[in-house]
Amino acid sequence: MMDYEVESLIAEGAIARRTQDLAADISAAFADTDQLLLVGLLRGSFIFIADLARQLDLPCEVDFMVVSSYGEEMESSGSVRILKDLDTEIAGRDVLIVEDIVDTGRTLAKVLEFMKLRNPRRIEVCALLNKPSRREADLDVRWIGFDVGDEFVVGYGIDYAQRNRTLPYIGVVKPIAPAAPD
Ligand code: IMP
Ligand code: MG
Repeated sequence: MMDYEVESLIAEGAIARRTQDLAADISAAFADTDQLLLVGLLRGSFIFIADLARQLDLPCEVDFMVVSSYGEEMESSGSVRILKDLDTEIAGRDVLIVEDIVDTGRTLAKVLEFMKLRNPRRIEVCALLNKPSRREADLDVRWIGFDVGDEFVVGYGIDYAQRNRTLPYIGVVKPIAPAAPD
């Protein structure tokens, strides 16, 4: 793995304030829902979903899915596989998918396609981060925390090769060039 440092991009307080605003919007949009089903995509969304869920002014339940990830790489492999399905029946339910980052959009497009086959009453997406310049799939992400550039980010649940997930803020991975030999 290359040498790198992490440069702060979005501070902890900014994430908390944005999460509160998102939660207020989502609570209003689902005000007529009996019990909203939050679906977190593991592992990257685990911190965001925990913070968001506690700010929602709605009866909620929580389930998780695992979809194939980048492994140790910085580029998506392109093929998306479901490694752990929901334990909850979603036919007729109102569902909010909670994701860490929408990059090419392929992961979410696949998850949405898969979940829509089960006929939820309503399904929406909330993503903490969005990389609009990288989008390939046609996707409707109703709630987005922050747009970011074409940079690799870590922290607040998001990893690079399983590291940096527990940073309280979002940072950018900056490669450090190896020192030139004397
Ligand atoms: P997509 O299918 O290209 O939209 O990829 C989405 C997934 O790739 C996200 O759920 C993340 O798990 C991962 N990902 C995309 N960009 C980054 C990044 O900058 N840092 C860490 N993981 C990322
Ligand atoms: Mg992810």
